[in-house]
Amino acid sequence: MSSTTCTVHITKRQERAVYASGDLARALKLSKTRSVTVKAGSKSVTLPLKLLKKSGNHLYITASLYTQLKLPRTGTIMVVNNSGKEMKLGPLIGILTNVVRSSTAPFGSRTDFIRQFMRVGADRAFYFAFSPSDVNWSQGTVNAIIPRSEGGWVRKTVPLPDVVYNRLPSRKAEKLSSMNAFKQRFIRRGIPLFNWSFFDKWDVYNLLQGTDAFRFVPDSRINPSGEELKEMLEKHKFIYLKPTAGSLGIGIYRLTYNPKRGYYARFRRSGRNVLLRFGKYDGLIKLLHRHNGSLRGYVAQQGIRLIEIDGCPLDFRFHMTKNSANQWVVAAIGAKKAGKGSVTTHVRTGGMLMTPEQALRQVYGSRADAVLSNAKDSAIKLAQDIERNYKHTLGELGFDIGIDKNERIWMFEANSKPGRSIFKHPALKEQGRASLQYIYDYCLYLSRFKARRDG
Ligand SMILES: Nc1ncnc2c1ncn2[C@@H]1O[C@H](COP(=O)(O)OP(=O)(O)O)[C@@H](O)[C@H]1O
Ligand SMILES: [Mg+2]
Repeated sequence: MSSTTCTVHITKRQERAVYASGDLARALKLSKTRSVTVKAGSKSVTLPLKLLKKSGNHLYITASLYTQLKLPRTGTIMVVNNSGKEMKLGPLIGILTNVVRSSTAPFGSRTDFIRQFMRVGADRAFYFAFSPSDVNWSQGTVNAIIPRSEGGWVRKTVPLPDVVYNRLPSRKAEKLSSMNAFKQRFIRRGIPLFNWSFFDKWDVYNLLQGTDAFRFVPDSRINPSGEELKEMLEKHKFIYLKPTAGSLGIGIYRLTYNPKRGYYARFRRSGRNVLLRFGKYDGLIKLLHRHNGSLRGYVAQQGIRLIEIDGCPLDFRFHMTKNSANQWVVAAIGAKKAGKGSVTTHVRTGGMLMTPEQALRQVYGSRADAVLSNAKDSAIKLAQDIERNYKHTLGELGFDIGIDKNERIWMFEANSKPGRSIFKHPALKEQGRASLQYIYDYCLYLSRFKARRDG
């Protein structure tokens, strides 16, 4: 494989040919080649190759070839020769998401994030965003949204991408079989799509069962019966009850059992933290049923006695990404201290975001580094074991990780489309950028714009 970057120009010549500078042809090992296949995403055209006496990496294409290839723009771009006789321009990175009617924020609250991601490799890659309805399969094109350098966004018809980064925001929509079929069409055409869909809490439990990293997952039950819940309370004295398709801490109960005093339920109601006591189990189960009808759709999980700061539990968001060598890395870590009386550590319920160094120093002093490094190793192990049992391509994972009072590492939840709220912390902004760089690098790997050691 040969790869480099080049500058694409439009030439006024009319001849059906492409013109490459000598330097570019040499870099791509095409100096002796008479005809070449120029590719951009799903489009390709084979033409005579003519060499120009010009230094630097330059490629001149006719206006008609530019239109045929549906290149999003001219200028600098990566170019690879994977087959011996090709110039594959790209990568074309497509971000799959929902598009709303707005010229300034076409992706709603995700707009800033998408623009930031598109900046990472803007001088070497073609980025565009699209929604499922923007794809024209019979033409092999996408009615894409691309950023304008002067600000704002514009529509342009481009080829199918080399790689798809899935940021569809709706759990419900992703569960539709039509959406599954839509995504499968990319795979069938050999276009990798990563971050296939949201995980439910129970999916992760299934993926990890039988793996080495399963030891990091608290004892859990899906759809517990009243009897099972009671048994779990007797065994662990402390459990979490969480909607399996939930997020943001919504609908979560923290239940404890004290043989002398009975059952306690802590949860959030009308924007406030509530604590109720029940002498008998019946009272507790009535409360749970009153709110949910039943315990279907819930996961009951052994409660973990988390390390604390100022009497408030502390946990961590590990933002994991793949890198250019297809390996998992810990791109960023945010520490989250729970608000007083809150069941979770979410900022919306009074939680506070800190750096892990800040937080762990308060708990472990000079041993903080060793504890953090152990947690990172565990997170990598978790990501590897989840990936091994998952049938789709993963590029990113967000783990909610706790450390208990015996220094054991636990994972409560794995998010396959992790939010980016930890990057609001000023000290984590740089890691936010680094995480996008990793995702870009992983796109290069998936789209074969980067040499693979494993072939
Ligand atoms: N088993 C548990 N033991 C202790 N704390 C937990 C447990 N499960 C969840 N939590 C706390 O609740 C928070 C939210 O739980 P999580 O499973 O991440 O649900 P959500 O999808 O709502 O974010 C966690 O970040 C953690 O602070
Ligand atoms: Mg969570």
